[in-house]
Amino acid sequence: MTEQAILDAAARLEAGALVAFPTETVYGLGADAENPAAVAAIYAAKGRPQDHPVIVHVAPGADLDYWAAEVPDEARKLARAFWPGPLTMIVKRHAHIPDAVSGGQDTVGIRCPSHPVAMALLAAFKGGKGGVAAPSANKFGNVSPTTAQHVRDEFNEEFGAGAITVLDGGASQVGIESTIVDLSRLATHGPVLLRPGHIGAAEIAAVIGAMPAAPDAAAPRASGTLESHYAPKAPVALADTARLPGLLTTLAGRGRRVAVIRYSPMLVQASAQELLPNEPAGYAFGLYAALRTMDRADVELILVETPPQHDAWLGINDRLRRAAFGSAGIIDRFLTAE
Ligand code: TXA
Ligand code: MG
Repeated sequence: MTEQAILDAAARLEAGALVAFPTETVYGLGADAENPAAVAAIYAAKGRPQDHPVIVHVAPGADLDYWAAEVPDEARKLARAFWPGPLTMIVKRHAHIPDAVSGGQDTVGIRCPSHPVAMALLAAFKGGKGGVAAPSANKFGNVSPTTAQHVRDEFNEEFGAGAITVLDGGASQVGIESTIVDLSRLATHGPVLLRPGHIGAAEIAAVIGAMPAAPDAAAPRASGTLESHYAPKAPVALADTARLPGLLTTLAGRGRRVAVIRYSPMLVQASAQELLPNEPAGYAFGLYAALRTMDRADVELILVETPPQHDAWLGINDRLRRAAFGSAGIIDRFLTAE
């Protein structure tokens, strides 16, 4: 990635075009957050409903008061502790932020990513004073991209190669989307964890002295928290470690084409398989690429070994649960079908 490529991309953003760029979590599809037409183009490209807000990405040292109507102390502390990094904070939005960015809500999500290409892009864009609105660079509901090739795979079919500029920054190191903490209703609800991620609730609590609660019914909407999301085309189902080998043998015996994603060493009978590391950081790094690879293996089902349930795996279990949503009962159907 050359300096010139980054400057060109920043100029394209300033001119209202879309640019896909790497972050440490997943790749984003970016537009000038202060240009409503550019933000609308993101929604069109993704096929995303208009009322889903997008995160505004800012450069290190950005002025939070420019983006937020109110900046609670908690937000300043969390920014100091975790930015640049995989944490998004929801705060009351400043009046000048376009409706398209906030999905019509009175809040805005802000994040300062740590990927060097993202930081260089944000530093070049509007002299480091702008904001880049960017959802994950995938069609709505699909698995988020963790490489530049994933982004091209998502959009080339529709728009043709090169229609969207994609900055290539290698594989995203975190691998799942940022932790989202809502700080917009502190007085009434305290901090709320809208989406678990690499930065855990306990780490946030250690900085602000209050444990983020699980979302309530009135919590701000987040599309990444829809029951069905992050899903490959083939159905996904989870199976416990002990059950997995026998289940795969039975399904293979019935002629079912099944792919498996596992982290335990075991011999299994499957049409395709991926072995991920048996620790959460390495597992998250490999998960989305594994789902994409298994989805290309022409299988009827992607069976995923249920990960451990400790806190460190919370973000992973959250994404897998959403990927598997809508596939309930599919194992039983395969087992009872003729
Ligand atoms: O790691 C990430 O957060 C990546 C990279 C590109 O930064 N971005 C990402 O964006 O995952 P997206 O749009 O795919 O998911 C962001 C989530 C969505 O569920 C959105 O609804 C929620 O954040 N969100 C954004 N602004 C919000 C707001 N003001 N209130 C509530 N939720 C918000
Ligand atoms: Mg997304």
